[in-house]
Amino acid sequence: MLENEAPWAWYVARVTGLISFSLLYIVMFLGLSIRTPILNKLVKPIHSLNIHAWLSVQALVLVFVHGGALLFDKYLKFTWPDILVPFFNKTYSPELALGIMAMYLMLILIGTSYLKKFIKHGIWRVVHFLNIALYTMAVYHALYLGTDLASEMARNIFIGANIFLVVIVVINIFTRIIKFIQRKRQQI
Ligand code: HEM
Repeated sequence: MLENEAPWAWYVARVTGLISFSLLYIVMFLGLSIRTPILNKLVKPIHSLNIHAWLSVQALVLVFVHGGALLFDKYLKFTWPDILVPFFNKTYSPELALGIMAMYLMLILIGTSYLKKFIKHGIWRVVHFLNIALYTMAVYHALYLGTDLASEMARNIFIGANIFLVVIVVINIFTRIIKFIQRKRQQI
């Protein structure tokens, strides 16, 4: 084995990590846009929903490649428990653990959504709200463990884009509360 062999596994992990996070961002944006005023006029909710569902699966596949590639990294020497069991790896915890937990939450959200017709709507709804926990974990993981987000410019873009998403989350929550109050008033 050559000493200066290119650390291909490390590059694969980095690029798939970046792309899967970007897809997750788009998944969040499209999911929120379904019931956010103005945004649901820009993209038809039915299109948002279809792309939302499809991209979430692509993001999950890339997350698997992202974690799996680390098994081949000769510097990190990760084992299966390192990439599958939260907090097993002490060196990179809690950042790594949050990434692993976000992966499981993605599995749960996607699984329950594709099996939606077998689940009570209320249960699916509550489970789907875990998207906020999932996304927060993924942000922390990417921000504090990611090599590419160490550069100031990348970090600023990342933070700016996420502030934009938080604003949409707040508008979305307010819209839901207002609609809920209006429905209750109509029932009186
Ligand atoms: C990583 C996986 C996923 C994430 C992070 C995610 C995230 C989101 C977010 C942020 C919203 C808007 C806020 C909300 O209503 O809770 C949403 C809505 C929605 N998502 Fe997902 N989602 C994922 C996967 C899926 C999949 C696979 C499907 C369908 C097969 C799906 C179906 C829906 C539906 C129907 C809504 C609209 C809910 C409504 O407003 O009534 N999601 N999702």
